[in-house]
Amino acid sequence: MGNRHADAFVFFGGTGDLAYKKIFPALHRLTRGGRLDVPVICVARGGWNLERLTEHAREGVERHGIVDRDAFGKFSRLLRYVGGDYDDPATYTVLRRELGDAKHPVFYLAIPPALFGTVIGRLHDERCDRGARVVVEKPFGRDLASSRELSRILHGCFDEKRIFRIDHYLGKNAVQNLVYFRFANAFLEPIWNRNYVRSVQITMAERFGLEGRGAFYDQAGAIRDVVQNHMLQVLANVAMEPPVGTEDVEAVRDEKVKVLKAIPPLVPSDVIRGQFLGYRKEPGVSATSTVETYAALRLEIRSWRWQGVPFFIRAGKLLPLNRVEVVVTLRRPPPIFSGPLLPTPATIPGANYIRFRLGPDLAIALGAMVKHPGEEFAGDRVELLASHQPDADEPDAYEQLLGDALRGETFRFAREDYVDEAWRIVDPVLKADTPLFPYEPGTWGPREAEALPAPERWNDPAKPPGPPETP
Ligand code: BG6
Repeated sequence: MGNRHADAFVFFGGTGDLAYKKIFPALHRLTRGGRLDVPVICVARGGWNLERLTEHAREGVERHGIVDRDAFGKFSRLLRYVGGDYDDPATYTVLRRELGDAKHPVFYLAIPPALFGTVIGRLHDERCDRGARVVVEKPFGRDLASSRELSRILHGCFDEKRIFRIDHYLGKNAVQNLVYFRFANAFLEPIWNRNYVRSVQITMAERFGLEGRGAFYDQAGAIRDVVQNHMLQVLANVAMEPPVGTEDVEAVRDEKVKVLKAIPPLVPSDVIRGQFLGYRKEPGVSATSTVETYAALRLEIRSWRWQGVPFFIRAGKLLPLNRVEVVVTLRRPPPIFSGPLLPTPATIPGANYIRFRLGPDLAIALGAMVKHPGEEFAGDRVELLASHQPDADEPDAYEQLLGDALRGETFRFAREDYVDEAWRIVDPVLKADTPLFPYEPGTWGPREAEALPAPERWNDPAKPPGPPETP
């Protein structure tokens, strides 16, 4: 099929929350940018019609972007509605008719994974899947076994090159910048290894809670919701080797898989799980839930480059602020000076670090020692910071990813072996029933997590350049 542009975009789940918040705004922007000019066929259950769907789409765009009248007019002319049950063959007969002569449709499944099998089977029966691609939303399964089962179902109709597993972090500019920054600058490579790096911390802090997603979240928890996918993708971008060659579109995905392959499965002592107080009273959440809303993990990468360097990940809801960042801390200079004319260990207040802020803005910061004025050979750690506030016109992650799927570019999607490896790493702790510690909303998670990075401490993203360190 090559990379032919899709000639129809079909999406299942168009009346849902994700469509409203993310998909319609992204499709509208693609239309505005002249990158979407094919029928957009929305398949959904429950007695809607085209008019209502168009209104729903307009509202979604208004709430999560700015409506461009011309672009929205064009988009609404592309929009079609097919109503019916996902397991009713009649729904697919109508869909087949709407597809007309389309030879390379994209099917986007923004529906619960439990329905994938039914939808894929029906598409196949109605011969809609020929020459098509399929885009599937996360969560891709809930453990290694169910993820493999989903892949098996998809492979019944689509080969791997036609399967696009979405992880919207891969569409974020700040996440792509990690790769760009690493491989577009020569100064980083010599120090980007176990000889210079002391530890890596990845934080995904969210100030908000469940926002009405209690029923979904209570089936998932922080590890399934954001660690297995978003956080491990960030880690892979930080840790991967430079890909070989320039032609092979799989080269980057190959390198990411290699990183995950070098990570041993987590054991219970590598993980601290927390739950914010009040979680069990949230709508949709079980009154006895043991699902975590916070997770802190310690991982190691058994590779030539990273052996012995601890990688820490923490992610949680109702933390003090919204911040996603990576902090790479370097080893300290050797403690060889002792006289007053050169810096001594006692007069160097901390270690160098490189901080990548991935959200809400994009920032790169360097923690460096700078001498105090005066005679004494002592200094402070200062942070040299470059930041970029994304403006409303920058493509967002979904716009990027749906544009890629329409063009048939798999590069920014998770491949089967990658997803399997990610589940392999977290699977044992998902099944281990590790302790769950309560935490107050608005704090940095349970106290029990504080010691996880010892002898290091967690960085406080609210207070750069970070707290005083242990020597
Ligand atoms: C989603 C999770 O995948 O990512 C949410 O389901 C989380 O729980 C969200 O809030 C975070 O995405 P972003 O783009 O806001 O960092």
